[in-house]
Amino acid sequence: MSGNTKTITIDPVTRLEGHAKITIHQDKNGDVTDARFHITEFRGFEKFCEGRPVWEMPAITGRICGICPVSHLLASAKAGDDILAVAIPREATRLRRLMNLGQFLQSHALSFFHLSAPDLLLGMDGDPATRNVFGLMKEAPDLAREGIRLRQFGQIVIECLGGKKIHPSWAVPGGVSAPLSEENRSLLRERLPEALQTVQKALSLFQEIAPKFAAEAAALGDFPSLFMGLVGENGVWEHYEGKLRFGDSEGAIVADGIDPRDYRTYIGEAVESWSYLKFPYYKKHGYPEGMYRVGPLARLNICESMGTPRAEAAWQAFRQTSGGKPVTSSFYYHYARLVEMLAAVERIESGLNEPEVLSDHVRADAGINRLHGVGASEAPRGTLFHDYTVDRQGLIQKCNLIIATGQNNLAMNRTVLQAAQHYIKGDSIPEGLLNRIEAGVRSFDPCLSCSTHAFGQMPLQVVLYGPDGGTLDERTRD
Ligand code: MG
Ligand code: NI
Repeated sequence: MSGNTKTITIDPVTRLEGHAKITIHQDKNGDVTDARFHITEFRGFEKFCEGRPVWEMPAITGRICGICPVSHLLASAKAGDDILAVAIPREATRLRRLMNLGQFLQSHALSFFHLSAPDLLLGMDGDPATRNVFGLMKEAPDLAREGIRLRQFGQIVIECLGGKKIHPSWAVPGGVSAPLSEENRSLLRERLPEALQTVQKALSLFQEIAPKFAAEAAALGDFPSLFMGLVGENGVWEHYEGKLRFGDSEGAIVADGIDPRDYRTYIGEAVESWSYLKFPYYKKHGYPEGMYRVGPLARLNICESMGTPRAEAAWQAFRQTSGGKPVTSSFYYHYARLVEMLAAVERIESGLNEPEVLSDHVRADAGINRLHGVGASEAPRGTLFHDYTVDRQGLIQKCNLIIATGQNNLAMNRTVLQAAQHYIKGDSIPEGLLNRIEAGVRSFDPCLSCSTHAFGQMPLQVVLYGPDGGTLDERTRD
């Protein structure tokens, strides 16, 4: 320690999918002047796809990420549909929708029960050694067990359709490769009542404990921004089809009815030297003023109804958090995830009850009819775009992916800065305060595997810089 330079040891961000880095800059008074969430590794997946047949892209891009393979599978298959220029069989659409709902359940359950419930139930100041899913198993064994089973149910939905757990190469340009069997439909139906019960219980629990976190809700990413996502007819909540909508924090619709193919007219992608993850923004508002959030919070803020009765009631209660207006704190991503899990369970139930769900007319055959195609879908973490240019043989010439975590990049950075400015004073950071900064990032549930398009994992560091720009300290945890 010398002069004005203060050394602070900071634990890395934990309980995120994958790894990254947070840097915090202090001035000589110990005030935080800047804080950034960095993605520091990039393996060029888009480049790697060049020359590959469009038919293989769902299976290839499904391997971008072990966390959300289904999201890439579906967005890729949709880009393929666009290149074939076919309307895929309605039955195939139903099955793809079911799989996406399974993915929502699986992913949201992981985020809520495994990654964030320890903070919410064991306390942000809890002992970090036990403030995790194992501690949760000890303190709230029923909830932990039910959460694990809910996540497993989402996984079973995916498996019953795709046949394989992690990388189902089931969705293909033109439809899907296999129908749903009667046996698997029965299996899924049997698990539905338990899934519904677990989601309802978790939702009540969150509503009960949320008031205890009023201070966190105000400090962890509460600011105005745009929100973007797909909506269905009449603004109903949507997760797979529909048109893009941008809304603001006051509830005004800023842009609506956008064909996802036209995304480039509305979305710019800025680059910063300190991050390999791009910074998408709403073009008309410029950069960085055009910051927008995607994912559960955004979807619930831009939609006008949920389309199913239980989720509708939960959504009404969610919106009351801010007097019926859009909810602006990133902390409430947790709440939004629970409402979406309820919607997913209800929609899986109604989807399985449709007689056509067992149809074997699930694929349209066609050749290459367009040289450019865009597939957009709502992934659990937000809107995902796959944009392909192909040659006449269907070989990829150019590939652009815009992932949810990238679109939340500006807002995640704003959240980290807000949290750091609120919690870091002076030369020491109690663990609980550091954990709150991490929790601000966790609320977005960023998928770092997707962000880097990397196959493996990266170590994550938190680095503290002093007033002279030198590194005061850093710590890395795998
Ligand atoms: Mg890209
Ligand atoms: Ni991912």
